[in-house]
Amino acid sequence: MSYNVAVDGPAGAGKSTIARAVAERENLIYVDTGAMYRAMALFLLRSGVDLEDETQIAAKCQEAKITIRYEEGVQVVVLNGENVNGFLRTEQVGDAASRTSPVPEVRKNMMKLQKELAEENDCIMDGRDIGTRVLPDAQLKIYLTASVEIRARRRFEELAAKGEICDLAQIQADIEERDYRDMHREISPLVQAADAILVDTSSMGVEEVVERICEQIRRQKGR
Ligand code: DC
Repeated sequence: MSYNVAVDGPAGAGKSTIARAVAERENLIYVDTGAMYRAMALFLLRSGVDLEDETQIAAKCQEAKITIRYEEGVQVVVLNGENVNGFLRTEQVGDAASRTSPVPEVRKNMMKLQKELAEENDCIMDGRDIGTRVLPDAQLKIYLTASVEIRARRRFEELAAKGEICDLAQIQADIEERDYRDMHREISPLVQAADAILVDTSSMGVEEVVERICEQIRRQKGR
């Protein structure tokens, strides 16, 4: 039986940075489910469908085949045969992913792929519904969060480091909107699983958070 760690939390809580580091240290595969929803959103954006029209999205998403492969430990998202990693981490695609991911037809195939990956591999998987829906039996569940102000500042600094001009207040407003949408949708809303450990990273450094999660893993494995 595989060993699975589920990490959920709102946008900008540091899930991917932390999960990636834990994966490396504990010899787990890192599965970034947000990247899968982003790949679907990219496909829908490129297709020109109206993102407010659920019927159009439900029909069009059937034409997207999304798979995952690993190259030197890095997750590569393949959309209809194309490596799309380079297109996924923009605000536009993230926003579109938050708008299109509530559509049941979009979620269905993603969940199947995610469950299969977790069955076949010892992994740490991050997203919004991993501990609640995708891997309800995960051996360890973490709910990672931070205040909206801190998450906005981190995002601002990340974009500034890439040379992108941005407005902190606007970033915070976008994050608040995304949180609301992810937490209030009908299907698989973002919510802390009853058996998840809450980790508020507002005043914690990456290393401290990573170490805390690794400690839990080692304790569970009796190391
Ligand atoms: O984690 P992220 O920012 O890459 O995710 C982008 C969007 O995808 C997020 O706003 C909601 C959606 N998502 C989801 O619905 N379920 C997941 N398991 C992961 C992401």
